[in-house]
Amino acid sequence: MCGIIAAVAQRDVVGWLLAGLARLEYRGYDSAGLAIVDSQGKLQRIRRVGKVQTLTAAVQQAGLQGHCGMAHTRWATHGPLTEVNAHPHLSQSIAVVHNGIIENHQILRGQLQQRGYRFTSATDSEVIAHLVHWEQQQHLAQQAEGGGSTAPLKLRTAVQRVIPQLQGSYGIVVLDSQDPTCLVAVRCGSPLVIGCSETAHCIASDQFALPAVMRQVIFLQEGDLAEITDQQLTLWDHRGQPVVRPWVEAAVEEHLSKGAYQHYMQKELYEQPSAIRRTLAGRLTADRIDLSELGERAEHCLQQAQHVQIVACGTAYHAGLVARYWFEAVAKIPCDVEIASEFRYRQPMVRQNSLLIVLSQSGETADTLAALRLSQSMGYLGSLALCNNAGSTLVRESDFSLITHAGREIGVASTKAFTTQLVLLLLLVARLGRLRGMTLQQEQAVVVALHTLPERMEQLLQLDKAVEALATQLVPDRHMMFVGRGVHYPVAMEGALKLKELAYLPAEAYAAGELKHGPLALIDAQMPVIVLAPCDELSEKLQSNIEELCARGGRLYLLADERLAIMEHPALTWIALPAMEPLMSPILYTVPLQLLAYYIALMKGADIDQPRHLAKSVTVE
Ligand code: AGP
Repeated sequence: MCGIIAAVAQRDVVGWLLAGLARLEYRGYDSAGLAIVDSQGKLQRIRRVGKVQTLTAAVQQAGLQGHCGMAHTRWATHGPLTEVNAHPHLSQSIAVVHNGIIENHQILRGQLQQRGYRFTSATDSEVIAHLVHWEQQQHLAQQAEGGGSTAPLKLRTAVQRVIPQLQGSYGIVVLDSQDPTCLVAVRCGSPLVIGCSETAHCIASDQFALPAVMRQVIFLQEGDLAEITDQQLTLWDHRGQPVVRPWVEAAVEEHLSKGAYQHYMQKELYEQPSAIRRTLAGRLTADRIDLSELGERAEHCLQQAQHVQIVACGTAYHAGLVARYWFEAVAKIPCDVEIASEFRYRQPMVRQNSLLIVLSQSGETADTLAALRLSQSMGYLGSLALCNNAGSTLVRESDFSLITHAGREIGVASTKAFTTQLVLLLLLVARLGRLRGMTLQQEQAVVVALHTLPERMEQLLQLDKAVEALATQLVPDRHMMFVGRGVHYPVAMEGALKLKELAYLPAEAYAAGELKHGPLALIDAQMPVIVLAPCDELSEKLQSNIEELCARGGRLYLLADERLAIMEHPALTWIALPAMEPLMSPILYTVPLQLLAYYIALMKGADIDQPRHLAKSVTVE
């Protein structure tokens, strides 16, 4: 998704801006741009479609330098992926970078065109630059009319006048080359963070984009407007009142390298055993689950809870769907799961004593955040964020939180974030279960299974070569079906999502029992079907579904428990998975599906870490 980095300093900031853009790359983008006020006071701008590297080469070749500037990675929403649509957008001396969406941009565009502004892009963002410029011109015209001096309008005041005209969600940074001593930023739905050193201030959409020297940061709150100079930071809240926000220690950036791996996704996939160990650390004794970190108020909430509502997007939604089976079967508590973008507009009825769980890797997903904010006036017992990013908005705005500690996930396609979410959810299920009559022995069974999970996962990763061979067979196919039953149905959905996003293949997931209600019509030799076949209480039912598929000329690829007696059939290929505890099975069956999508994408030559059109952190609705 779009990324922002801007700086004003007593030194040249171009290096900081380019390095910041490189650190924002993982979020997914399609073009990048940079604007800087040079030593002559001229506003210089360079934009490029494609990688940050291409922009960096162009900026270096042009020898751009300056003390005040901004840069942006764009993830197209309004207008195609072209250079003219890349940010920053200009209006005379004004330059703007924008994350988010301006919903009333058409109306504003029309009004600005009537005032004589000529648009050079198809974006919603360009209106902001022209509006700021218009406010400055209005001010000068009014002063001239009054016959007084024509002191220019402060950039901050011009921006303050523009804000009420904008509808939508945005994080913006504005620069005026006529006064390159400051930058102005506004947060309204899209995160912004400010970093400082003794002689510089930076603003970014992600703290990891800030220069490493900036160890103290301030997260802007909703509606905040910030003005930064090289030495000063001034903040106003959403009512325009001066406000002070706390400086906090910047998170320490992990060493981000692919190491021996070809892609971040591959590395993250292989990191899952250690990521799970981190998720479990301090939360699992030899025989008990310990979530005392939640505190007394949360514990009280858990005690009162009679219903769980999970809200999430994408992969996190799939984790929620898996957890629903656990909440109901293990903790004996009713649970509903909903996609955040539906939940927020559906006017949902809240069950009595319902606990809201918001699940997110990034903690910045716009729809999930909006659902959380909406829930705050709906009468939930409380909100609990399960998140991988401790400093995220979701964590800050929820009543309680649990961090997955998966470590930074750079690949756009979620891997370790998903499996660690499942682990954390299972810990919560067991905790809730204990409050609702689950016996100590049952808790201990979960504990034992979780203790062995990292090693089990290492075992599953050894299937790498077998899955690669399977991928070789599947790579010519144009579409694929994934089938599972029970708790493995959402795992099949996650497998299909991985294939869609990585290999750009249409892939659908079905509950095996649902096939006869329509999807069977799709079955022929051209439709490979990946079947998840664990050894559980549904094995026999699944066996019948497999026979139905074979009987209709289907081409089947089974990921099957080694204990199952799989029927011989020429159209049936299978990979044996080791026997495992049923509760661990959805977590472990995920691994071969991740590997499958990875290898098919690799063989197709797709951009694995940054699949086309996608973003890591989806900060627009
Ligand atoms: C995962 O592979 C996807 N890239 C995507 O579905 C993701 O899970 C979704 O956008 C939600 O993100 P979040 O977990 O950061 O909220």
